[in-house]
Amino acid sequence: MLDRDAVIAWLRESDQSRLFELFAWADRVRHESVGDAIHLRGLLEVSSFCVRQCAYCGINATNRTARRFRMDRDEILAAAREAKGYGYGTIVMQGGEDYGIKAEWMADIIRAMKQDVGLAITLSLGERRPDELKLWKEAGADRYLLRFETSDPALYRLIHPALPGGFEDRIQQIRMLQEIGYEAGSGVMVGIPGQSWDSLADDIMLFSTLDLDMIGVGPYIPHPDTPMGAWMLEGRGEVAFPKLPEGEQVPGNAETAFKVIALTRLLCPDSNIPSTTAIATLNREGGRRQGLMCGANVVMPNLTPAKYRECYEIYPNKATLVETAGVCARNLKDSFEQMGRFIGSGAGGRVRH
Ligand code: 5AD
Repeated sequence: MLDRDAVIAWLRESDQSRLFELFAWADRVRHESVGDAIHLRGLLEVSSFCVRQCAYCGINATNRTARRFRMDRDEILAAAREAKGYGYGTIVMQGGEDYGIKAEWMADIIRAMKQDVGLAITLSLGERRPDELKLWKEAGADRYLLRFETSDPALYRLIHPALPGGFEDRIQQIRMLQEIGYEAGSGVMVGIPGQSWDSLADDIMLFSTLDLDMIGVGPYIPHPDTPMGAWMLEGRGEVAFPKLPEGEQVPGNAETAFKVIALTRLLCPDSNIPSTTAIATLNREGGRRQGLMCGANVVMPNLTPAKYRECYEIYPNKATLVETAGVCARNLKDSFEQMGRFIGSGAGGRVRH
């Protein structure tokens, strides 16, 4: 089987024919363990307010240029009905860590949505209190996404300033989600400054240790109005990020993201793995497709109403800025069929082997 050293060797591999073998292997394992269905999760970006100061993220609290919005109840429920109409099995409500999203308000929306459309509901709303997470679970939420972003504790702390008195251990948060009974998802960004091949291998090994139901990875895309993006793009800023020796820094490109998807599929055969928007953003022609051919089995089409989409700029030029939900829904079916795949029916939760 793949141990940490083998994972590191694959991550460093640059021979295209060897990589082709890796991707084909992961594609075979994907076929055997989760089948040929591609599950669609409609992504609704419900709020761009955020209290956190994550150094990479365009909607972090300190970015004065970020435009803030919060969808209202009717808009959210209308989008869920739209998703149902397109045949999606899951709605993902994602937002910044926004304490304007009151626990009871969200619980009421979850209940109404369950009753109205009956789809699986995934939440991705940052680090919330255990009682809030329990309330949402009881209201009918099924899954929760919270990426740990990097398994390197020092790098984690550098890029995620804690809230005063705040809770810092995200791994513990993920375990708590599992205890509450959520299907739990996590993931990392690929190519953040200071991320070495060894550290990326640790991330992948940790996916398997945590026994995650969902694992999302995408390249880090610098956003100019963030501390990390300013440092990467213009070499300026108050925070200095680590500089690794030549050959040790992981590049934030699509190929590295594909390697991570493939290795993740091999180590976590029955997890749900999306081909993410960040990958499609770097490679608009075939990025999403390629991810689906090296281990991924999930796509998250964007359902956010057009007027809010450009405000949810976690990184620039997001691939989903232009395609409307309707056009996207129509195109996906054809493109999947060309790959010998089909749109999954039902909620598409994890089926353990
Ligand atoms: N580039 C790529 N991904 C990003 N995310 C946030 N900012 C960026 C960026 N600049 C990812 C994080 C977060 C997810 C919602 O989006 O991994 O968990």
